[in-house]
Amino acid sequence: MSISFPTANQESATYPERLQIKHLSDPNVTASTNDGSDVIAGLTQEQKTIPCHYLYDDRGSEIFEQICELPEYYPTRTEAKILRENGSAIAQTTGNCELIELGSGSSAKTRLLFDAYQSLGYPLHYIPIDVSAGMLEASAKELLREYPTLQIRGLVGTYEQALQHLPSSPLPKRMVFFLGSSLGNFAPKQCQEIFQEVTNALNLEDYFLLGLDLQKSKDILEPAYNDSQGVTAEFNYNLLDHLNRRFDGNFNRQNFQHWTFYNSELGQIETYLRSTQPQTVQLKALDLTVEFGEGETIRTEISRKFNLQQMEQELAQEGLKILNTWTDPEDWFALLLCQVKQNIGSSRPSRAIHNFYR
Ligand code: AVI
Repeated sequence: MSISFPTANQESATYPERLQIKHLSDPNVTASTNDGSDVIAGLTQEQKTIPCHYLYDDRGSEIFEQICELPEYYPTRTEAKILRENGSAIAQTTGNCELIELGSGSSAKTRLLFDAYQSLGYPLHYIPIDVSAGMLEASAKELLREYPTLQIRGLVGTYEQALQHLPSSPLPKRMVFFLGSSLGNFAPKQCQEIFQEVTNALNLEDYFLLGLDLQKSKDILEPAYNDSQGVTAEFNYNLLDHLNRRFDGNFNRQNFQHWTFYNSELGQIETYLRSTQPQTVQLKALDLTVEFGEGETIRTEISRKFNLQQMEQELAQEGLKILNTWTDPEDWFALLLCQVKQNIGSSRPSRAIHNFYR
């Protein structure tokens, strides 16, 4: 008897029992955060800003995958090496658990974790969370082809939405993982909120795996955000195309320049779009008109670089204890395995668990 494995074009007929995707921006599920009020707030303050999640439409997510391959962009390959070398130590520590990924993207590094759990004979239960539906769906299908026993229940939405709407777990333990130093794209207050959302979504003794880019010389940092091929600049310009499409806007990307530098006082890369001339931009769907002077900037991203001692304290304040820290030989990047030791979240409003899949 021959056994046939599904091919790419059989996938939709073959995998539905192993793939469920829920769109949390459905207005019936949650008050939508997609109404653009955050864009209005950002573009009407003195230092104009646009929330960095607008970088990740489907095209932005594709460009980000290209960034990860750039010679100047060291975080992805450094973290992948740490994961490759220590994935089995992680799986041995946590034992069998449901894996929940914040900002799953192409799930490239997720495979390193899957391999580690699979080689211990654990079934793979995975909840990818991403704002890009296209990227989440495409990578989920790819993963299902590669891991025949994998079960996926993806959530399309922001971290906050998704962590509040996690389906109930088929396994006694869970591990939320947040790789790629994506935490660095949030201000300190927001990072604290993310830790709270994570611990609210988890039970005592559950796990949190966190990838962090560490502080280092600006000679290494700045080229990583201003690469010689202009891919990161394109990532930044695409934000304007995304806003145009989404809110019926008329941003002209030719009238802006990509500008980025390391702010060593704050320990963060700051990225801007700088207006090359006086101009007026409209976002009709938001009923918004924005004036720009020549040289005026929109801050589009911060990318914080971390200090491990400080992070240990911040995690501890939220009841998260670091069990193990792995770094590369140059101490450029760190992977922290934490465990929920205190349910500080019980004094905050309790988390809502909805099972949308029933
Ligand atoms: C997703 N995030 C961690 C990236 C970073 O390094 O801050 C986003 C990025 N922006 C420009 N290059 C990469």
